[in-house]
Amino acid sequence: MDKLDVNRFLATSNSLNIADLGNSVGFMVVKNIVESMKRKIPQNKQDKVQFQVFFNDHVRNCFDTLFKSLPPNREYFAAGVPGSIHGRLFPKGTLHFVNSSYALHWLSSIPNELIDKKSPAFNKGKIFYTDSCNEVVQVYAKQFARDMEVFLNARAEELVPGGLMTLLLPCFEVKKYPLVQVVDLLGDCLMVMAEKGLLSEEKLDSFNFPRYNATPKEIEDVIRKNDRFTVEKFQSLGPPSSFVNKPPNIYMFMLFLQTSWGWLIEKHFGSEVVEQVFCLLRKRIVTSSVLTLENIKTVSECFILLRRKAT
Ligand SMILES: C[S@@+](CC[C@H](N)C(=O)[O-])C[C@H]1O[C@@H](n2cnc3c(N)ncnc32)[C@H](O)[C@@H]1O
Repeated sequence: MDKLDVNRFLATSNSLNIADLGNSVGFMVVKNIVESMKRKIPQNKQDKVQFQVFFNDHVRNCFDTLFKSLPPNREYFAAGVPGSIHGRLFPKGTLHFVNSSYALHWLSSIPNELIDKKSPAFNKGKIFYTDSCNEVVQVYAKQFARDMEVFLNARAEELVPGGLMTLLLPCFEVKKYPLVQVVDLLGDCLMVMAEKGLLSEEKLDSFNFPRYNATPKEIEDVIRKNDRFTVEKFQSLGPPSSFVNKPPNIYMFMLFLQTSWGWLIEKHFGSEVVEQVFCLLRKRIVTSSVLTLENIKTVSECFILLRRKAT
């Protein structure tokens, strides 16, 4: 609210354009943004201003579900925008506010070095960087920095000068936080399945999990190097409040994992192994300490508020 200069936007347009990038299906953030913007609109302009909200996600997202669950009493016009956040999605200088929560830690692609047998970063027998050699970690880190740079450049084109962008993403000093532990367990499960001949070793060696959890410093460095935004706020937050007193329940957690990671397994290993992989993973999670309250409390995230520079 404090950082919003709605009058500056209204000097050239009566329409305020908001984009939620990597939205999946959710409306709370947008509702909060619209309400905050409304409070900053001068009384004499309240009736003239209209809100347009763009909900973006990958093409494979279920936009049908998104459209069907749009709140009927919403105070904005809604549109779906399919496509990757690692590229342009909107015309130049058309957005006033962009939000992206929990999408930027997904990498746009897996660098070839990780699956090239001749490369020093060939990640044999592993699907992630947490237990791998430094070369592998560096390849992951560089891909994240490249993706962030592409993301920032695209948004810098699309936002009006002075436009705001909020980013929320997992962000840690430590390498091993709960979801990372789950990726490691997933790697173990795939390994067991390869040993049993349920999937090929070749397939396993060519699979790497496309996600990177940057430290606050890594994120700050990319933003400063990019130089197209001012940093209005950069705050490390603790675990989400819903986790503080109660760890997630295993049923809901598995549902979340299968919904968000299932397509990756299916795409690489084939649909026939998906059920087996998640069944094995569930057993591993239940017997591990991943979902204990103590462990869950180590989760932290970064809230970042950026303003598009005037030039
Ligand atoms: C964990 S969900 C977060 C959903 C919602 N923003 C939230 O905070 O609850 C991550 C979403 O980001 C989307 N996503 C990841 N990478 C993306 C990309 N490159 N372009 C568009 N959407 C992306 C995924 O498809 C998924 O729906």
